[in-house]
Amino acid sequence: MNNLSHRFIRALLKQPVDKTPVWIMRQAGRYLPEYCATRKKAGDFLTLCKTPELACEVTLQPLARFDLDAAIIFSDILTIPDAMGLGLYFVEGEGPKFYKPIKNLSDIKKLRVPEPGQLDYVYQAISLTRRELNNKVPLIGFSGSPWTLACYMLEGGSSKEFRQIKTLLYQDPKTLNHLLSTLTVAIIQYLNAQIKAGAQALMIFDTWGGLLTPSAYQLFSLNYMTQIINGLTYKSEEEKIPILLFTKGGGLWLEKIANSGCSAIGLDWTIDIGEARQRVGDKVALQGNMDPSVLFGSKERIREEVETILCSYGQGTGHAFNLGHGVSQFTSPDNVKHFVDAVHELSPTFHKTC
Ligand code: CP3
Repeated sequence: MNNLSHRFIRALLKQPVDKTPVWIMRQAGRYLPEYCATRKKAGDFLTLCKTPELACEVTLQPLARFDLDAAIIFSDILTIPDAMGLGLYFVEGEGPKFYKPIKNLSDIKKLRVPEPGQLDYVYQAISLTRRELNNKVPLIGFSGSPWTLACYMLEGGSSKEFRQIKTLLYQDPKTLNHLLSTLTVAIIQYLNAQIKAGAQALMIFDTWGGLLTPSAYQLFSLNYMTQIINGLTYKSEEEKIPILLFTKGGGLWLEKIANSGCSAIGLDWTIDIGEARQRVGDKVALQGNMDPSVLFGSKERIREEVETILCSYGQGTGHAFNLGHGVSQFTSPDNVKHFVDAVHELSPTFHKTC
């Protein structure tokens, strides 16, 4: 593995660090006025994603304000369904929608893995951002999990009940498996191209895996994510990069997730990170897991919560600090700065070697 000079990469590979590294899911987002200004300039969210210079610009914005240990490429998990012909758009206040959601079996059969080139804008944004970062911090690439992408594709956007996908799961699991397999092939190509373009770590967002029963999680989400991890290719052993797997609501299944071949597990805030560490042992590193709502609290409260999580994880490496989910658009950037600085100020004592 390369990139071992970076604190974030070292922590994911359980190499000693001086301080606990920290970054924030959705760190480039609407809580930053400069993000809103660039988004306005782009006209809409998708144009922002599809213009490499603008995607690079917003990726770098939070790094100019905060002492973050990683950048994450500005994009979205729904770029793949968009490239598969569903046509992504966003309605203010309603989240993502598709012009052509999947309605029936014949729609699923017609789906094709995106052509090489259709997602070039993502790879170009990665290469450009790597150049601009100049090795200051590592750049994370990402994708949604097959299950999570299928949720959006079948529901046509965000959902409360997930009735369409759950109906398919229990009525016609073979067809659902066909869809998940097609997405798995698409995601393997997508992530391999991100590695080639310069991504230094990859994160798989399984936002809706926690909706499933334990056995359905294994069959319809984790198995496919394991296939993805096995499908990543590198020029040499030194080129290998850490893979982070984040199943929101997956706290009950950590032992299984740790066997997927990932380097690190992303945790939401419903699990104690110290208990999670005991359960996964030396197998993987952990990322997380402060409740994003803590950032609505006072500065003292934020610092206290950071300290609680650091103490719970305990001594030694293997922890990348983060929130348990994305930062809310209503968060004060000043509190975010306080949070990031608190991690760096309070963590050195957990990395002292005698
Ligand atoms: O973390 C980062 O800074 C990188 C960028 C990033 C975005 N989306 C930008 C974005 C990442 C990693 C994502 C992943 C993503 N997208 C997920 C998985 C993570 C999670 O939150 O569980 C999901 C489920 C999506 C799908 C998606 N995209 C939703 C549900 C929404 C609407 C959110 C909302 O609050 O309205 C988006 C849009 C989106 N993606 C925004 C950003 C900054 C807000 C869009 C805007 O500017 O209006």
